[in-house]
Order: sequence, then C-alpha cells, then structure tokens
Amino acid sequence: MRTEHLEDTSGGLSRAAALLREGALVAFPTETVYGLGADATSDHAVARIFEAKGRPRFNPLIAHVPDLETAKRLVEWPDTADRLAQAFWPGPLTLVLPLRAGHGLSPLVTAGLETVGLRLPGHPLARRLLAEAGRPVAAPSANPSGRISPTTAAHVLAGLDGRIEAVLDGGACPVGLESTIVGIDGTRAVLLREGGLPDHAIESCLGHPLAAREGDALTAPGQLASHYAPGAAMRLEAEAWRPGELRLGFGEVESDMNLSRSGDLVEAAANLFGHLHRLDAMQGEVIAVSPVPDTGLGRAINDRLRRAAAPRDG
Ligand code: TXA
Ligand code: MG
Repeated sequence: MRTEHLEDTSGGLSRAAALLREGALVAFPTETVYGLGADATSDHAVARIFEAKGRPRFNPLIAHVPDLETAKRLVEWPDTADRLAQAFWPGPLTLVLPLRAGHGLSPLVTAGLETVGLRLPGHPLARRLLAEAGRPVAAPSANPSGRISPTTAAHVLAGLDGRIEAVLDGGACPVGLESTIVGIDGTRAVLLREGGLPDHAIESCLGHPLAAREGDALTAPGQLASHYAPGAAMRLEAEAWRPGELRLGFGEVESDMNLSRSGDLVEAAANLFGHLHRLDAMQGEVIAVSPVPDTGLGRAINDRLRRAAAPRDG
C-alpha cells in the first residue's frame, strides 16, 4: 500500500475525511501526538488499527469527537464530566465514562468494556477533520506498538509508511505528550494516566484531589485477567467439537459462528467481540473456539480469548 502524504489544505482535509468514512486508516495531528485514526463505528476499520500498529493486545482506544453534543450522545454525562469538559475541552484531556445504550461504537474501541475514553482535541486541523468525517474517530498514537509516540508526520511515516492509507500533515504537535486520562465514576474522578494536562489544573477545577488509581475496574481494564468473560465456560484451541458445545470457528470448519472462513485475521478481529456476545446470548455451557494462528493480529485475538477463558473470581 502506498501511504498518501496529505497537506493542510482543503483538498488534503477532504481527502483525509473521505478516507476515514471509507474505513481507511489516516494518521492526523492532535495537539498532543499524531493519532492513527479509524472510523470508531466500524469493526473492520478499528481492527486494522491493531494490525497496523502490531499491537499484541486489544487495549481500549480513545474515541475522538468533534463537539460536546457528540460526546453526550455516546456516554452518560455526570456533573463532574461537564465541569471538566467546560474547563479543558478542546484540549489534552480524555474522560472515561459509562457508555449509553445505542452508542454505535465498535466493541473493539472499548475492548468490550462498558466505558469509553472520549477526547475533544484542541488542534484546529483535528477538529476540522472530525467535523468533516462526521463520526467518532478511534485513534491511539500513530506509532508501531512499543515505539515512541510521533509528533511529526515524518515520525509517523518512519514507523507506518506502507501500512496505512494516509497521513495528514499538520506540522509538529505543540504539546508532545499524550492526553491526561481521568475516569469518572459517579462523582469520583480518578487519574488513570498522567499526560499533557497537569493534574493540579484538574484538581483546582474540581476543588478536591483526584482519587488515586487502585485495583478497581476503571484502573487498567486490559490488564485484568478476565475483564471480558462470557457467562459460558470457554474451551480454546478446539481441534474437534464436542457434543453440546457452542462452536466458534476459524477457517473452513462447520461452526455456529465463524470468525473468518477465509482465515483472514483482520476479519476475525473485527468479528471477535460481536460473535462472543452472540454466542453467549445462546446461553450454552461451553463455547469452544478453533485454533487461531498466533501471528500478527492473531496474537491480540488469542490474548483476548485467553482472558475470556481465564478463571473468574466472581
Ligand atoms: O493524546 C492522546 O491521548 C493520544 C492522541 C492520539 O489523542 N492518544 C493516545 O491513545 O494516547 P492510546 O491508545 O495510545 O492510549 C489510550 C489509553 C490506553 O492506555 C487505555 O488503556 C486508556 O487510554 N483507555 C482507553 N479507554 C479506556 C477505558 N474505557 N478505561 C480505562 N482506560 C482506557
Ligand atoms: Mg500510545
């Protein structure tokens, strides 16, 4: 794939927005770092983020929104969120809030959680792109997994040239540090990640200290062994089905649901959470899963399947 280098012109912006609407990957500048953007409502587009970055896990992603109204349609909006958003949006602050019914985001954005991280970036080019794309855009930092976050279009290309459709060049990112992430749980505000907005600014807006992160569900969902576990038990690496099992296939096998008949890992990642939910709704005792190759996106798929299969602590 040839990665298009789009300039900060109205033509470049329209092209970037059109690519996002088509499900392509477009890196774009924010005031913090360059994000690797994809349509947050498309399972396939979001799956491709993980493939392009070579992420070994489905960490939850931040959904970028063009305005406050979009944020309020996606999540519950307690007073604390409103105060922080009024003070710091647009800007380098991400708020993690409970999803509302009918939000329409791909479960790959939230890694199957009931919450989502939302951010209204302050970079003018990012805001115009989000408005023209007309949908929430999922975007982790635009670097291969484990590498340094990019703050110029050249950094993005150094890591991802040939792996994404385009980069929209807005020059250097002024903040250069990722956004500060605050989880809001009722009236409690928890600092989940330090970042470009100093925590003392947040605390003086709230009028009280941020709660420290502890071992609760908001803290590090991706790290919890079984944070997304179906009600049924899971049997992985199933080479043959046993009677009574719900069958989640991969490749050319007879099954109740199939992650990808053609063995395509991007398609499998896109289907993973939806298929698990649908099988779980069938209320069987065991969900058996075909072996999935442990290469590329397959590593993230297997990581998530192992977490879903991990023993539950109730
Ligand atoms: O400045 C930034 O935040 C950049 C730009 C592109 O916006 N984005 C960014 O995304 O840093 P990423 O994917 O590299 O980091 C997202 C972090 C992850 O550490 C993830 O665990 C946390 O946000 N996160 C996202 N959703 C969450 C949720 N529902 N609960 C807890 N943490 C969440
Ligand atoms: Mg990152």
